[in-house]
Amino acid sequence: MIEVLSVASEIYPLIKTGGLADVTGALPGALAPLGVSMRTLVPGYPAVISKLEAARVVAEMPDYFDGTARLLAGRASGLDLIVLDAPHLYDRPGSPYLDASGKDWVDNWKRFAALSFAAYELGRGMVEGYRPQILHAHDWQAGLVPAYVAFNAPTRVKTVLTVHNLAFQGVFGWDVFAQLRLDFRAAQEGAIEYFGSISYLKAGLQVADALTTVSPTYAHEIRTGAYGMGLEGLLQSRSDVLHGILNGIDIGAWDPQNDPALAEAYGSSSTDKRAQNRAKLLERFGIENSPGPVFSVVSRLTWQKGMDMLVECVDALVALGGKLVVLGSGDPALEAALKGAAARHPGKIGIIVGYSEELSHLVQGGADVMMVPSRFEPCGLTQLYGLRYGCVPLVSRVGGLADTVIDANEAAVDAGVATGVVFAPATTEALTEAIRRTVTLYGREKTWRKMQRRGMKSDVSWEASARKYADLYSDLLGLKRDEQDD
Ligand code: ADP
Ligand code: GLC
Repeated sequence: MIEVLSVASEIYPLIKTGGLADVTGALPGALAPLGVSMRTLVPGYPAVISKLEAARVVAEMPDYFDGTARLLAGRASGLDLIVLDAPHLYDRPGSPYLDASGKDWVDNWKRFAALSFAAYELGRGMVEGYRPQILHAHDWQAGLVPAYVAFNAPTRVKTVLTVHNLAFQGVFGWDVFAQLRLDFRAAQEGAIEYFGSISYLKAGLQVADALTTVSPTYAHEIRTGAYGMGLEGLLQSRSDVLHGILNGIDIGAWDPQNDPALAEAYGSSSTDKRAQNRAKLLERFGIENSPGPVFSVVSRLTWQKGMDMLVECVDALVALGGKLVVLGSGDPALEAALKGAAARHPGKIGIIVGYSEELSHLVQGGADVMMVPSRFEPCGLTQLYGLRYGCVPLVSRVGGLADTVIDANEAAVDAGVATGVVFAPATTEALTEAIRRTVTLYGREKTWRKMQRRGMKSDVSWEASARKYADLYSDLLGLKRDEQDD
């Protein structure tokens, strides 16, 4: 058995703002059959503390990053957790990162240094009877984990850092450095310095034993100037330890044959039953139920996701006979622009601003097309849910989108391997053209059904990728592969 402590700022179903939570929530279950025991260290947000069952105090830290903290071990929603209960850092309502006005909490540097430091302490045996062999850190919020291990008192534990999104780098001023409890060598040796400031992500990328990101294409892209966000040089220099491991999805939680959010269950040979879901969906979004493809978006409304391009394409989409449902929230200007589009096209475009897990399932089960026109996309999960639900993905050819959707060009359609529409470059013109192509394909009923079926049969589970993580852990520990099954 390999003992891994995953360190994350969010985990489904307890606290989620995006795909990171889906991944950290699914990994432990996917790894369990492969001889990996994974616990997850998470901050003690109210949403986590209130769900914790049979919690035991396993460590008391009376003087911890300017307050009193404890570590609680317990379970919640089937997950094995260690919770950093530090009310002065995490006992706040709402988003894990933002205050009520939508700004980053001013002490985020402290909140996530404290999380990472707790992982380091656990890695060197702070809790009797528990000794993880690997600390698996996710994104900048856990970026300091490898740095504490590399620069503070030596310990045997190995570190893995997974980049879910290079755009968020945990950049702060030097003034906080002295309070991080990070050995000064991290500064002296240039590990944490980043263009005159400090970066938690950079520090982790510099010294982790292994780096992963969430798709093979993104693993290449981030070593280029176009996608590296200033870190391409560092990532190039660490190519030998950088791996692209594609995300999977929880096929139990996302199963059109058994999904309480749907009006009607269906499988790949009964996609005609999607009509009931389509009707329910259109009603929820105030859209007329008439022929023509229903395009959909379930997303953060941001520049990354290409939502400004979508805004510029909506008139064409409607003119081509399409309808559009949007479930999302984010940039207020984009929310307003999409609301404006809905007002201009009553009965054709509907937007619900907000976050609803239940509605996101209904969109996948009822819409015809799942749009993900991202400028960059480390992996993307909504196109995977789309594949599984017969909601044909329309995606830009970047990152994980390029790795998971097969474009319906003529050859692919003839060969019966197409699963969606892929466009490049990520521009308004190319997106408009892709919408036109999608409308045409939708009109070819047999071709469309075949694409849906093919997508529904593609393997979007965690199986293959969980094996890759398990192999990576074995390699780091110098075990022969499969030895962990003993
Ligand atoms: P990212 O993490 O970059 O936002 P992903 O595609 O990896 O993108 O993951 C997004 C996750 O968040 C998916 O599970 C998606 O269904 C969900 N999601 C995004 N916006 C909403 C929303 N408004 N309501 C419900 N679920 C949403
Ligand atoms: C990030 C990325 C997204 C990815 C998710 C889970 O939020 O933006 O592409 O799917 O992490 O890895």
